Amino acid sequence: MDDADLLGRFIDASPSPFHACATAAATLAEAGWVEVAERDPWPSEPGRYLVRRSGSLAAWSTEAATGPADPFRIVGAHTDSPNLRLKQHHDRRFDNVAVLALEPYGGPLLTTWFDRDLGIAGRLGLRDGSERLVHVDEPVVRVPNLAIHLDRDAANAPDRQRHLDAIWAVAGADEPFLTWLGRREGFDPADVLGFELMTTDTLPSVRVGARGELLSAPRLDNQATCFAGVRALIDAAPADGLRPVLVLFDHEEVGSTSERGAQSDLLATVIERTVLAAGGGRDEVHRAVAGSVCASGDMAHATHPNHADRHEPLHRVALGGGPVLKVNQNLRYATDTRGTVAFARACEQAEVPLQRYVHRADLPCGSTIGPMSAARTGITTVDVGAAQLAMHSARELMAAADVASYVAALTAFLAPA
Ligand code: CO
Repeated sequence: MDDADLLGRFIDASPSPFHACATAAATLAEAGWVEVAERDPWPSEPGRYLVRRSGSLAAWSTEAATGPADPFRIVGAHTDSPNLRLKQHHDRRFDNVAVLALEPYGGPLLTTWFDRDLGIAGRLGLRDGSERLVHVDEPVVRVPNLAIHLDRDAANAPDRQRHLDAIWAVAGADEPFLTWLGRREGFDPADVLGFELMTTDTLPSVRVGARGELLSAPRLDNQATCFAGVRALIDAAPADGLRPVLVLFDHEEVGSTSERGAQSDLLATVIERTVLAAGGGRDEVHRAVAGSVCASGDMAHATHPNHADRHEPLHRVALGGGPVLKVNQNLRYATDTRGTVAFARACEQAEVPLQRYVHRADLPCGSTIGPMSAARTGITTVDVGAAQLAMHSARELMAAADVASYVAALTAFLAPA
Protein backbone atom coordinates (compact mmCIF):
# COMPACT_ATOMS: atom_id res chain seq x y z
CA MET A 1 0.00 0.00 0.00
CA ASP A 2 1.63 3.25 -1.14
CA ASP A 3 0.92 6.87 -0.14
CA ALA A 4 -1.80 7.27 -2.78
CA ASP A 5 -3.62 4.18 -1.46
CA LEU A 6 -3.35 5.57 2.07
CA LEU A 7 -4.78 8.88 0.85
CA GLY A 8 -7.69 6.96 -0.71
CA ARG A 9 -8.32 5.29 2.64
CA PHE A 10 -8.22 8.64 4.46
CA ILE A 11 -10.74 10.10 2.02
CA ASP A 12 -13.10 7.11 2.12
CA ALA A 13 -13.22 7.42 5.92
CA SER A 14 -13.87 11.18 5.73
CA PRO A 15 -17.19 11.94 3.98
CA SER A 16 -17.68 15.29 5.80
CA PRO A 17 -15.45 17.94 7.41
CA PHE A 18 -16.36 16.47 10.82
CA HIS A 19 -15.25 13.03 9.69
CA ALA A 20 -12.07 14.49 8.15
CA CYS A 21 -11.18 15.91 11.57
CA ALA A 22 -12.06 12.60 13.24
CA THR A 23 -9.85 10.68 10.79
CA ALA A 24 -6.98 13.15 11.25
CA ALA A 25 -7.38 13.06 15.05
CA ALA A 26 -7.39 9.24 15.12
CA THR A 27 -4.28 9.07 12.92
CA LEU A 28 -2.50 11.61 15.10
CA ALA A 29 -3.62 9.84 18.30
CA GLU A 30 -2.01 6.63 17.05
CA ALA A 31 1.22 8.60 16.68
CA GLY A 32 1.04 9.94 20.22
CA TRP A 33 -0.95 13.16 19.90
CA VAL A 34 -3.17 13.93 22.89
CA GLU A 35 -6.47 15.71 22.31
CA VAL A 36 -7.23 18.66 24.57
CA ALA A 37 -10.40 20.73 24.80
CA GLU A 38 -10.33 24.46 24.17
CA ARG A 39 -12.30 24.95 27.39
CA ASP A 40 -9.56 23.29 29.42
CA PRO A 41 -6.26 24.83 30.55
CA TRP A 42 -3.62 24.68 27.81
CA PRO A 43 -0.98 21.97 28.33
CA SER A 44 2.32 23.43 29.52
CA GLU A 45 4.33 20.17 29.40
CA PRO A 46 6.29 19.65 26.16
CA GLY A 47 4.40 17.14 24.02
CA ARG A 48 2.10 16.47 21.08
CA TYR A 49 -1.39 17.95 21.25
CA LEU A 50 -4.47 18.63 19.15
CA VAL A 51 -7.77 20.46 19.47
CA ARG A 52 -10.94 20.18 17.42
CA ARG A 53 -13.45 22.93 16.79
CA SER A 54 -16.29 21.14 14.94
CA GLY A 55 -15.05 20.64 11.35
CA SER A 56 -11.67 22.25 12.07
CA LEU A 57 -8.58 20.90 13.82
CA ALA A 58 -5.23 22.18 15.00
CA ALA A 59 -2.33 19.95 16.06
CA TRP A 60 1.12 20.92 17.25
CA SER A 61 4.27 19.61 18.84
CA THR A 62 6.42 21.26 21.50
CA GLU A 63 8.85 18.37 21.85
CA ALA A 64 11.88 20.15 20.43
CA ALA A 65 13.93 22.43 22.69
CA THR A 66 12.20 25.79 22.26
CA GLY A 67 11.86 29.07 24.09
CA PRO A 68 8.52 30.88 24.35
CA ALA A 69 9.40 33.37 21.57
CA ASP A 70 10.63 30.74 19.10
CA PRO A 71 8.74 30.60 15.78
CA PHE A 72 6.16 28.15 14.49
CA ARG A 73 6.23 26.28 11.18
CA ILE A 74 2.66 25.77 10.01
CA VAL A 75 0.94 23.68 7.36
CA GLY A 76 -2.67 24.72 6.71
CA ALA A 77 -5.44 23.15 4.64
CA HIS A 78 -9.23 22.95 4.46
CA THR A 79 -11.49 20.05 5.38
CA ASP A 80 -14.62 20.96 3.41
CA SER A 81 -15.48 20.16 -0.21
CA PRO A 82 -18.35 21.27 -2.45
CA ASN A 83 -21.32 18.91 -2.35
CA LEU A 84 -25.11 18.69 -2.07
CA ARG A 85 -26.53 19.16 1.44
CA LEU A 86 -29.91 18.53 3.05
CA LYS A 87 -32.21 21.51 3.48
CA GLN A 88 -33.80 22.04 6.92
CA HIS A 89 -37.19 20.98 5.55
CA HIS A 90 -36.07 18.26 3.17
CA ASP A 91 -39.02 15.83 2.93
CA ARG A 92 -41.17 16.10 -0.19
CA ARG A 93 -43.41 13.61 -1.93
CA PHE A 94 -44.06 13.48 -5.63
CA ASP A 95 -46.74 10.93 -6.54
CA ASN A 96 -45.39 7.72 -5.02
CA VAL A 97 -41.76 8.89 -4.78
CA ALA A 98 -40.05 10.21 -1.64
CA VAL A 99 -37.93 13.21 -2.59
CA LEU A 100 -35.07 14.66 -0.53
CA ALA A 101 -34.57 18.42 -0.93
CA LEU A 102 -30.90 19.30 -1.46
CA GLU A 103 -28.95 22.48 -2.04
CA PRO A 104 -25.36 23.07 -3.10
CA TYR A 105 -22.58 23.82 -0.62
CA GLY A 106 -19.92 25.96 -2.30
CA GLY A 107 -19.39 25.57 -6.03
CA PRO A 108 -19.75 21.92 -7.06
CA LEU A 109 -19.63 20.89 -10.72
CA LEU A 110 -23.34 20.18 -10.53
CA THR A 111 -23.74 17.64 -13.32
CA THR A 112 -21.17 15.33 -11.71
CA TRP A 113 -23.59 14.72 -8.80
CA PHE A 114 -26.29 13.34 -11.08
CA ASP A 115 -26.80 9.60 -11.61
CA ARG A 116 -24.35 8.85 -8.81
CA ASP A 117 -25.03 6.41 -5.96
CA LEU A 118 -24.95 8.63 -2.90
CA GLY A 119 -24.77 8.00 0.82
CA ILE A 120 -25.32 10.48 3.65
CA ALA A 121 -22.88 11.85 6.20
CA GLY A 122 -22.52 14.65 8.70
CA ARG A 123 -23.30 15.76 12.23
CA LEU A 124 -26.41 15.66 14.39
CA GLY A 125 -27.04 17.80 17.46
CA LEU A 126 -29.29 16.16 20.04
CA ARG A 127 -31.56 17.67 22.69
CA ASP A 128 -29.31 16.50 25.54
CA GLY A 129 -26.48 18.62 24.16
CA SER A 130 -24.52 15.72 22.69
CA GLU A 131 -23.45 15.46 19.09
CA ARG A 132 -22.94 12.45 16.89
CA LEU A 133 -21.45 11.81 13.51
CA VAL A 134 -23.36 9.69 11.02
CA HIS A 135 -22.11 8.00 7.88
CA VAL A 136 -24.43 5.90 5.72
CA ASP A 137 -21.88 4.41 3.34
CA GLU A 138 -24.48 2.75 1.13
CA PRO A 139 -26.29 3.97 -1.97
CA VAL A 140 -29.55 5.38 -0.63
CA VAL A 141 -29.95 8.63 -2.50
CA ARG A 142 -29.85 9.47 -6.17
CA VAL A 143 -30.30 12.67 -8.22
CA PRO A 144 -31.50 11.40 -11.60
CA ASN A 145 -30.62 13.24 -14.78
CA LEU A 146 -33.30 14.51 -17.10
CA ALA A 147 -33.43 12.53 -20.34
CA ILE A 148 -31.68 14.36 -23.14
CA HIS A 149 -34.89 14.21 -25.21
CA LEU A 150 -36.85 16.34 -22.72
CA ASP A 151 -34.72 19.46 -22.37
CA ARG A 152 -31.21 19.47 -23.78
CA ASP A 153 -30.31 22.72 -21.99
CA ALA A 154 -31.58 21.81 -18.51
CA ALA A 155 -29.94 18.39 -18.69
CA ASN A 156 -26.53 19.96 -19.31
CA ALA A 157 -26.90 23.05 -17.12
CA PRO A 158 -29.07 22.21 -14.09
CA ASP A 159 -30.66 24.93 -11.96
CA ARG A 160 -29.30 25.13 -8.38
CA GLN A 161 -32.76 25.64 -6.87
CA ARG A 162 -35.03 23.45 -9.00
CA HIS A 163 -33.04 20.50 -10.26
CA LEU A 164 -30.98 19.06 -7.39
CA ASP A 165 -33.52 17.15 -5.28
CA ALA A 166 -32.87 13.45 -4.89
CA ILE A 167 -35.07 10.35 -4.88
CA TRP A 168 -34.59 8.02 -1.93
CA ALA A 169 -37.67 5.77 -1.67
CA VAL A 170 -40.61 4.59 -3.74
CA ALA A 171 -44.14 3.54 -2.78
CA GLY A 172 -45.20 3.27 0.84
CA ALA A 173 -42.22 5.24 2.15
CA ASP A 174 -44.22 7.74 4.15
CA GLU A 175 -41.68 8.23 6.90
CA PRO A 176 -39.53 11.34 7.06
CA PHE A 177 -35.91 10.91 6.06
CA LEU A 178 -34.62 11.57 9.60
CA THR A 179 -36.94 8.85 10.94
CA TRP A 180 -35.45 6.37 8.50
CA LEU A 181 -31.94 7.56 9.38
CA GLY A 182 -32.63 7.34 13.13
CA ARG A 183 -33.95 3.80 12.88
CA ARG A 184 -30.86 2.81 10.98
CA GLU A 185 -28.32 4.69 13.11
CA GLY A 186 -29.96 4.18 16.48
CA PHE A 187 -31.19 7.62 17.51
CA ASP A 188 -34.63 9.06 18.15
CA PRO A 189 -35.40 11.58 15.40
CA ALA A 190 -37.44 13.61 17.88
CA ASP A 191 -34.19 14.31 19.73
CA VAL A 192 -32.49 15.84 16.68
CA LEU A 193 -32.64 19.60 17.07
CA GLY A 194 -29.93 20.48 14.58
CA PHE A 195 -27.98 18.86 11.77
CA GLU A 196 -25.42 19.40 9.03
CA LEU A 197 -25.98 16.50 6.64
CA MET A 198 -24.58 16.05 3.16
CA THR A 199 -24.53 13.57 0.32
CA THR A 200 -21.38 11.58 -0.35
CA ASP A 201 -20.19 9.37 -3.18
CA THR A 202 -20.34 5.71 -2.10
CA LEU A 203 -17.85 4.57 -4.75
CA PRO A 204 -14.51 4.06 -2.98
CA SER A 205 -11.38 5.83 -4.12
CA VAL A 206 -9.70 3.81 -6.85
CA ARG A 207 -6.44 3.71 -8.78
CA VAL A 208 -6.89 4.16 -12.52
CA GLY A 209 -4.55 4.23 -15.50
CA ALA A 210 -2.60 1.48 -17.25
CA ARG A 211 -0.34 1.00 -14.23
CA GLY A 212 -2.52 2.64 -11.61
CA GLU A 213 -0.67 5.94 -12.00
CA LEU A 214 -3.73 8.00 -11.10
CA LEU A 215 -5.99 8.28 -8.07
CA SER A 216 -9.71 8.81 -8.71
CA ALA A 217 -11.40 10.00 -5.54
CA PRO A 218 -13.91 12.44 -4.14
CA ARG A 219 -12.71 15.44 -2.09
CA LEU A 220 -9.06 15.46 -3.25
CA ASP A 221 -9.63 19.23 -2.90
CA ASN A 222 -8.60 19.45 -0.16
CA GLN A 223 -8.37 16.20 1.79
CA ALA A 224 -5.20 15.41 -0.18
CA THR A 225 -3.57 18.25 1.77
CA CYS A 226 -5.24 17.22 5.04
CA PHE A 227 -3.72 13.76 4.57
CA ALA A 228 -0.30 15.07 3.51
CA GLY A 229 -0.30 17.55 6.41
CA VAL A 230 -1.09 14.86 8.97
CA ARG A 231 1.66 12.68 7.56
CA ALA A 232 4.09 15.61 7.50
CA LEU A 233 3.43 16.49 11.13
CA ILE A 234 3.97 12.86 12.17
CA ASP A 235 7.06 12.37 9.98
CA ALA A 236 8.76 15.71 10.74
CA ALA A 237 11.71 15.19 13.07
CA PRO A 238 11.52 17.89 15.76
CA ALA A 239 13.91 20.73 14.88
CA ASP A 240 15.27 22.70 17.82
CA GLY A 241 13.95 26.23 18.05
CA LEU A 242 10.87 25.50 15.93
CA ARG A 243 7.34 24.32 16.76
CA PRO A 244 5.46 22.49 13.96
CA VAL A 245 1.72 23.09 13.62
CA LEU A 246 -0.98 21.59 11.41
CA VAL A 247 -4.22 23.53 11.04
CA LEU A 248 -7.22 22.22 9.11
CA PHE A 249 -10.04 24.72 8.54
CA ASP A 250 -13.67 24.13 7.65
CA HIS A 251 -15.70 26.50 5.44
CA GLU A 252 -13.02 27.42 2.87
CA GLU A 253 -15.40 26.65 0.00
CA VAL A 254 -17.93 29.18 1.31
CA GLY A 255 -15.66 32.06 2.25
CA SER A 256 -13.97 31.02 5.53
CA THR A 257 -15.93 33.52 7.66
CA SER A 258 -17.09 31.54 10.69
CA GLU A 259 -15.99 30.60 14.18
CA ARG A 260 -13.87 27.81 12.69
CA GLY A 261 -12.91 29.05 9.21
CA ALA A 262 -9.56 30.51 8.16
CA GLN A 263 -10.79 33.97 9.17
CA SER A 264 -11.46 32.70 12.70
CA ASP A 265 -9.10 32.98 15.65
CA LEU A 266 -8.37 29.22 15.74
CA LEU A 267 -4.73 29.38 14.58
CA ALA A 268 -4.08 32.66 16.41
CA THR A 269 -5.32 31.27 19.72
CA VAL A 270 -3.40 28.01 19.36
CA ILE A 271 -0.22 30.05 18.89
CA GLU A 272 -1.03 32.49 21.67
CA ARG A 273 -1.99 29.86 24.22
CA THR A 274 1.03 27.69 23.34
CA VAL A 275 3.39 30.63 23.88
CA LEU A 276 1.68 31.63 27.13
CA ALA A 277 1.70 28.05 28.40
CA ALA A 278 5.45 27.92 27.68
CA GLY A 279 5.95 30.84 30.04
CA GLY A 280 5.90 33.66 27.49
CA GLY A 281 3.87 36.87 27.60
CA ARG A 282 2.25 39.09 24.98
CA ASP A 283 5.58 40.22 23.57
CA GLU A 284 6.75 36.62 23.13
CA VAL A 285 3.51 35.89 21.22
CA HIS A 286 4.30 38.65 18.73
CA ARG A 287 7.97 37.66 18.49
CA ALA A 288 6.93 34.07 17.71
CA VAL A 289 4.45 35.23 15.07
CA ALA A 290 7.05 37.49 13.43
CA GLY A 291 9.38 34.53 12.86
CA SER A 292 6.75 32.01 11.75
CA VAL A 293 5.95 30.80 8.23
CA CYS A 294 2.78 29.04 7.05
CA ALA A 295 2.41 26.81 3.98
CA SER A 296 -1.22 27.07 2.93
CA GLY A 297 -1.79 23.82 1.05
CA ASP A 298 -4.61 23.47 -1.44
CA MET A 299 -4.96 21.69 -4.73
CA ALA A 300 -3.59 23.20 -7.95
CA HIS A 301 -4.88 22.97 -11.51
CA ALA A 302 -2.87 20.56 -13.65
CA THR A 303 -2.90 21.63 -17.29
CA HIS A 304 -5.87 19.89 -18.91
CA PRO A 305 -4.97 18.16 -22.20
CA ASN A 306 -8.35 19.12 -23.72
CA HIS A 307 -8.25 22.72 -22.50
CA ALA A 308 -4.65 23.85 -22.65
CA ASP A 309 -5.89 27.29 -23.75
CA ARG A 310 -7.39 27.85 -20.29
CA HIS A 311 -3.92 27.77 -18.75
CA GLU A 312 -1.07 30.29 -18.69
CA PRO A 313 1.26 28.97 -21.41
CA LEU A 314 4.49 29.60 -19.46
CA HIS A 315 3.12 27.96 -16.32
CA ARG A 316 1.89 24.56 -17.36
CA VAL A 317 1.51 22.18 -14.44
CA ALA A 318 2.11 18.46 -15.02
CA LEU A 319 0.35 15.60 -13.25
CA GLY A 320 3.13 13.75 -11.47
CA GLY A 321 5.40 16.79 -11.77
CA GLY A 322 5.74 17.42 -8.03
CA PRO A 323 4.43 20.07 -5.63
CA VAL A 324 3.15 23.39 -6.97
CA LEU A 325 3.89 26.94 -5.83
CA LYS A 326 0.92 29.24 -6.48
CA VAL A 327 1.50 32.95 -7.17
CA ASN A 328 -1.13 35.61 -7.87
CA GLN A 329 -0.48 39.35 -8.24
CA ASN A 330 -3.98 40.15 -6.93
CA LEU A 331 -3.29 38.15 -3.77
CA ARG A 332 -5.81 35.42 -4.40
CA TYR A 333 -2.79 33.45 -3.18
CA ALA A 334 -0.72 34.78 -0.27
CA THR A 335 2.66 33.78 -1.73
CA ASP A 336 5.48 36.32 -1.53
CA THR A 337 9.25 36.13 -1.86
CA ARG A 338 9.87 35.09 1.74
CA GLY A 339 7.30 32.30 1.69
CA THR A 340 8.56 31.16 -1.71
CA VAL A 341 12.10 30.80 -0.41
CA ALA A 342 10.90 28.74 2.57
CA PHE A 343 8.92 26.32 0.39
CA ALA A 344 11.52 26.12 -2.40
CA ARG A 345 14.11 25.18 0.22
CA ALA A 346 11.77 22.51 1.59
CA CYS A 347 11.43 21.00 -1.90
CA GLU A 348 15.23 21.04 -2.31
CA GLN A 349 15.64 19.36 1.07
CA ALA A 350 13.02 16.72 0.13
CA GLU A 351 14.64 16.33 -3.31
CA VAL A 352 11.37 16.82 -5.16
CA PRO A 353 10.82 19.14 -8.14
CA LEU A 354 8.81 22.37 -7.70
CA GLN A 355 6.32 23.58 -10.30
CA ARG A 356 5.31 27.23 -10.38
CA TYR A 357 1.70 28.15 -11.18
CA VAL A 358 0.27 31.46 -12.37
CA HIS A 359 -3.37 31.75 -13.41
CA ARG A 360 -4.24 33.27 -16.79
CA ALA A 361 -4.49 37.06 -16.36
CA ASP A 362 -7.79 37.08 -18.29
CA LEU A 363 -9.54 34.54 -16.01
CA PRO A 364 -10.81 35.02 -12.45
CA CYS A 365 -8.63 33.10 -10.01
CA GLY A 366 -9.97 31.05 -7.10
CA SER A 367 -8.56 31.61 -3.63
CA THR A 368 -7.46 29.58 -0.61
CA ILE A 369 -7.17 29.84 3.17
CA GLY A 370 -3.76 31.49 2.64
CA PRO A 371 -4.59 35.21 2.26
CA MET A 372 -7.24 35.11 5.00
CA SER A 373 -5.15 33.19 7.50
CA ALA A 374 -2.19 35.50 6.75
CA ALA A 375 -4.29 38.62 7.34
CA ARG A 376 -5.77 37.18 10.54
CA THR A 377 -2.44 36.14 12.07
CA GLY A 378 0.22 38.34 10.45
CA ILE A 379 2.23 35.23 9.53
CA THR A 380 4.25 35.04 6.32
CA THR A 381 2.33 32.60 4.13
CA VAL A 382 3.06 30.67 0.95
CA ASP A 383 0.32 29.03 -1.12
CA VAL A 384 1.28 25.60 -2.36
CA GLY A 385 -0.50 22.48 -3.56
CA ALA A 386 -0.54 19.26 -5.54
CA ALA A 387 -1.74 19.07 -9.14
CA GLN A 388 -5.17 17.68 -9.96
CA LEU A 389 -7.82 17.69 -12.67
CA ALA A 390 -11.59 18.11 -12.39
CA MET A 391 -11.51 20.34 -9.29
CA HIS A 392 -14.95 20.47 -7.58
CA SER A 393 -16.21 17.40 -9.45
CA ALA A 394 -17.81 14.67 -7.36
CA ARG A 395 -14.80 12.60 -8.51
CA GLU A 396 -11.44 14.29 -8.91
CA LEU A 397 -8.17 13.02 -10.36
CA MET A 398 -4.52 13.32 -9.40
CA ALA A 399 -1.26 11.49 -10.07
CA ALA A 400 -0.42 8.88 -7.43
CA ALA A 401 3.25 9.94 -7.49
CA ASP A 402 2.35 13.46 -6.39
CA VAL A 403 1.03 12.23 -3.05
CA ALA A 404 4.47 11.05 -1.91
CA SER A 405 6.30 14.14 -3.18
CA TYR A 406 3.71 16.41 -1.52
CA VAL A 407 4.13 14.58 1.81
CA ALA A 408 7.92 14.84 1.49
CA ALA A 409 7.86 18.58 0.72
CA LEU A 410 5.50 19.42 3.60
CA THR A 411 7.53 17.23 5.97
CA ALA A 412 10.71 19.13 5.06
CA PHE A 413 8.82 22.42 5.44
CA LEU A 414 7.88 21.54 9.03
CA ALA A 415 11.41 20.39 9.85
CA PRO A 416 13.89 22.48 7.88
CA ALA A 417 17.47 21.18 7.99
CO1 CO B 1 -9.66 23.86 -2.16
